[in-house]
Amino acid sequence: MKYASLDLITAQYERCQLAFLPTPLQFAPRLSVALGGPRIFIKRDDMTGLALGGNKTRKLEFLLADAQEHGADVVITAGAPQSNHCRQTAAAARQMGLDCVLVFTPGQHDEMQGNVLLDKLFKASIIRTENSDSMAVMQATAAELRQAGRVPYVIPVGGSNAVGTLGYAVAMHELGLQLDAVNVTARHLYFSSGSGGTHSGLLLGQRLFGPAGMRLVGVSPGGKAEMVRPKIVQIANQAIQQLGLNEGFTLDEVLVYDQFVGRSYGISTPQSLEAISLFAETEGVLLDPVYTAKAAAGLIHDIRTGQITADDTVVFLHTGGSPAIFAYHDEWAK
Ligand SMILES: Cc1ncc(COP(=O)(O)O)c(C=O)c1O
Repeated sequence: MKYASLDLITAQYERCQLAFLPTPLQFAPRLSVALGGPRIFIKRDDMTGLALGGNKTRKLEFLLADAQEHGADVVITAGAPQSNHCRQTAAAARQMGLDCVLVFTPGQHDEMQGNVLLDKLFKASIIRTENSDSMAVMQATAAELRQAGRVPYVIPVGGSNAVGTLGYAVAMHELGLQLDAVNVTARHLYFSSGSGGTHSGLLLGQRLFGPAGMRLVGVSPGGKAEMVRPKIVQIANQAIQQLGLNEGFTLDEVLVYDQFVGRSYGISTPQSLEAISLFAETEGVLLDPVYTAKAAAGLIHDIRTGQITADDTVVFLHTGGSPAIFAYHDEWAK
């Protein structure tokens, strides 16, 4: 590995402990056989532990440490009603003794189920807006809170900025060590890539720590690849520069699939529903209908079309989201 330890990051950034790490790297033998041979490992970031887990917990370890350094007493973030990011932010805020305001943009299943129900349990204050510029709404909310004597800290959608992304640079370091420990070389890493911070962190982590040669495949849950890729590059570049390294990333290093989106964000596809059933029935692993099922649909497609062969090894990064299943129960009542 290029840098043996995380010192480069931890010497410069505070980090609070919200996740139970390392998350397991689980071999999925029955899924591997069902798909015709490639060895599939699942990196279980659905088991980060905070309030039913998920990828945002890793980002929040850096973001909430930064909030604390700024003296914040309330965090504000935004997402669709069934946002896993909002749910994990509300839970993390409570764990850190902070209040939380969630700005909900219109989305599927805005009902008292799944993540919306959990946000309620964390007593997050919820603002619903039709304004597609959720950052503007968050800034206006922050200004009001400041006037009332509070110290707000705004976290962008998905926790995807140069601070939050460090969580996934650390995750890549963790994954590299786990693969080394079982003497496995993985040629592919598949994961859901939405607001970009997970993908940018993985890129950054791979550059800093390895493993070299592992192909990163982000699968979009809704956005067009041409919109998502520049954002990933931008966050990764900001992060590497803030770490003091005179290096950068380019668009050609970023692979994002958008052909598994279907009709739109938050709406399942036949392939995503098949992926949920396959993971559940072969391995007892729950995917979520919005993110990880579409990412798994991309992986399944690439195996079936021979882009991943029977002698390959692939890691599927399970980024969480299973609470949303309960809001989507109608999908299985048909
Ligand atoms: C379960 C799950 N997977 C993947 C993602 C995508 O992560 P990112 O927004 O960092 O691209 C999200 C984002 O909310 C998510 O909730």
